[in-house]
This record gives sequence, structure tokens and C-alpha cells, in this order.
Amino acid sequence: MAMMWAGRFSKEIDSRVNDFNSSIKFDARMYCSDIEGSIAHATMLGEQGIIDKDESLKIIDGLRGILADLDSGALEIDPNAEDIHMFVEQVLTSRLGDTGKRLHTARSRNDQVAVDIRHYLRGECDEIAALIRELIETIVSIAQEHYYTVMPGYTHMQRAQPVTFAHHVMAYAQMLMRDLDRLSDCRRRMNVMPLGSCALAGTTYPLDRERTAELLGFDTYTDNSLDGVSDRDFCCELAGVLSILMMHLSRFSEEIILWCSWEFKFIELDDAYSTGSSIMPQKKNPDITELIRGKTGRVYGDLTTLLSMMKNLPLAYNKDMQEDKEAIFDAVDTVKLCISTFTPMLATMTVLKDNMRRAAAKGFINATDCADYLVKKGMPFRSAYKITGTLVARCIELDTTLEELPISEYKKLSELFDEDVYKAISLDTCVMQRSVEGGPAPEAVARQVERLKTKLR
Ligand code: ARG
Repeated sequence: MAMMWAGRFSKEIDSRVNDFNSSIKFDARMYCSDIEGSIAHATMLGEQGIIDKDESLKIIDGLRGILADLDSGALEIDPNAEDIHMFVEQVLTSRLGDTGKRLHTARSRNDQVAVDIRHYLRGECDEIAALIRELIETIVSIAQEHYYTVMPGYTHMQRAQPVTFAHHVMAYAQMLMRDLDRLSDCRRRMNVMPLGSCALAGTTYPLDRERTAELLGFDTYTDNSLDGVSDRDFCCELAGVLSILMMHLSRFSEEIILWCSWEFKFIELDDAYSTGSSIMPQKKNPDITELIRGKTGRVYGDLTTLLSMMKNLPLAYNKDMQEDKEAIFDAVDTVKLCISTFTPMLATMTVLKDNMRRAAAKGFINATDCADYLVKKGMPFRSAYKITGTLVARCIELDTTLEELPISEYKKLSELFDEDVYKAISLDTCVMQRSVEGGPAPEAVARQVERLKTKLR
């Protein structure tokens, strides 16, 4: 096949170089964005009289035909094409002859690829945002069922203070809300149109860039032609947003893996979302969550690929930048795959409330409340802290808990202790009393849920 630049060259390209150079395998998925971009460009060229109005209409029609044929499968992508831009233009020219050759007026593949990726990734951002919202909604409905499900809260993986399952899962809803926010910020900065930058130095043709931007649904156009073709910040930024999102999913996954273990037994995953072992008949493994944890590294890798790829590039376009697509598409695909599996897995899991409560009832999780009891009776916190520490040591010695330690033992350490201490340190009191805004008390979590729902709307 003769290359598009054949005029300047006296030899055919080496087939290995052709394969090496070609990006069609991974940029073919942008065909719709590429064609939409060309339709807008051709429309504007016609409106500006840069090409004949009739020819502009023929080009638009031809491009619509190619889009329809690709959608229906009537036209197949040529795996030997250099990239999706050349492929579409070649088909157009083979269908329209000389008219097709006018499409690339006042345009370069450098601004073309830049507009394609922005346009394409914008759609991916919307899909990912929808998936995140669905996940948040799932978490919220789980939370609403578990305002009273007491569980231990941890620091250093040691039982620390009691919380509720609703409060615990809502922490993830908050992280995901920030992910949504970051994603929408990223989409806003991405939604700027580079066409008109051409190869690097703009063009002498009287383009109406505002019109092209409007036709493609971009908020505005780029203000510097060199930057327009060489900016891939939006890829790095999206990969960064997705890396943080994956970090959240991975932390949640890690907890689910722990909660599924016999040591915790806080939840049980539905059979449809777990796997067995080929040798150990008793096993039910949380593979989905482990894969998410594993794939997180992969998305971080994509971010590193993009940042490293960009860091030494002089202005403007360099072929290195073709490497952006595999990395960012991998990040996008991985995230979509992970959330789409994670959400139904979460929605179908069984929460083993009694086990959570039993775990919260041990481990002196109410020691802070015992100290607070003394503080409420007038003792300075540090002194109350010390006395409670001594009480805990005494419990360990007697192999008992604060709830079961006789009042005589309490009184030995402070006269402020009375029978009402047992109520003050009961698990339910510990949780119910933490009704500060943002706390785990049921009514505080219900308010948290309401605020989040308002934001989500
Ligand atoms: N396939 C190329 C890419 O993805 C398109 C831009 C090619 N431009 C060029 N000057 N060779 O970056």
C-alpha cells in the first residue's frame, strides 16, 4: 500500500516499521470521535468558504456513511492502516475521489489526534461517572439498612472504638464522592478543542474555531497552537483521578477480603461473586476483590507510563505521544471492569451483624467511654485515662471485660464510679452517644446520608 506521504519518498516502508509505527490496533476504538471531529471540521470549512459548500456537504455525507458502515460492521477496519485518522480519510477518498482529499485542509493529524482523544475520553469520563454514582447509591442503600449494626472500628488493625456498619461503608461513599468531583474537574479541563492548532503553528486559513468547538460540544478552544497539539495533561490527570479511585476500591477490597475470612466473618459474599478452590473443598474465595487490589497497581502503572512518556518531550508533537492511548485506555477499561463487578458484589453480600457485634463486645473497645464517664463526673481526662488503663489491666488479669468487672473493682480506683457505669460503657450507649456531626450515632449517619444524597442530586 502506498503511504500518504509517498510524494517525498522513493521507497516503500519496511513492513516491520509499518507495524511498529501503526497505532490502528489501539486507536481504532476512537473511530466515532474521529469521524465526528471530521464532520465538524468539514462543516466549518464549508461555512467559512474554505472549501466549496457542496463539497463540504458531500464530505459530511461520506463521513456519515463511513460511520454507519463501521457501526453496522459493513466496513471493517484495515489492520494495515497507519492509524484511525488515515484509515477514515483513505476510505473517504476511495468513496468520493478528489472531494475526499479536501477534508484535511487546515488540519494536521497532530491536532486531529488531540481532538479525538479529548472527545473520546470525555465520553469515557461520563461512563465512569455513571458507574461511580451507581456504586455510591449501592453503598447508601446498604448504609440505610445498618444504622444500628454495631461493629468494631479499628486503628493499627486493633479494635479501637465501636462504630456502625453504616458509618463504616459511608466512609467509602465519601471517598467516591470526591472521585466524582475530581472526575468532573478533569472532564472540564479536557473539554477544550485543539483543532486549528494544525501541525504546530496554526494556519493561514480563516478558521472559525469557536464554531468547530460548538459543533463538537467543547466549552472552548485551546489558546496556543503549540500547547494545543502537545498537551496530554488531560490523560495524565485522568489517569491520576483513576489511580486515586482505584486506591479507594482497593482499600475497600482489602477490608472485604479480611471480613470474609474465618477470623472476622463479618460478611459473606454471594456464591455468584466468589470462587472455589481446585483442591480445597471448603474454600470460598473473594477473587473479585483480590483482582481489584491487584489491578490497582496496573492503573498506577498507566499513570507512571504517561508521566514518564511526557517528561522529556520538547514542543510540539513527538511520536512518543502515540503511547498515550494504550495507557489511558487500559486505565479506563480496568476501572470500568472493576466497578461493574464490585457494585453487584457489594449489593448481594450478606452482612453478619451478630458477628460484628460480638467482635465489638470484646477488646475493651469501650475504654474511652469509661474514661469519659469519669470526665463527665468532674475528673480531668488524663487522670481518667490512667485509671481506665489500670482497670483494663485488671480485667486482663481476671480474664474478664469492663462490662463484667464487679463494681467493687471500679470503686477501688475511684469513688466516682457507680452502678450507672455499666450503662455508660454498654456498646449501644458508646455508639448512640457519638452523635456529633460526622459521628457514628444512627441519627448522625442518617444526616450524613441525607447530605450526600443532596450532593449526588
Ligand atoms: N497515530 C498518531 C498518534 O496517535 C497520530 C498523530 C500522528 N502525527 C504525526 N505527525 N505522525 O499520535
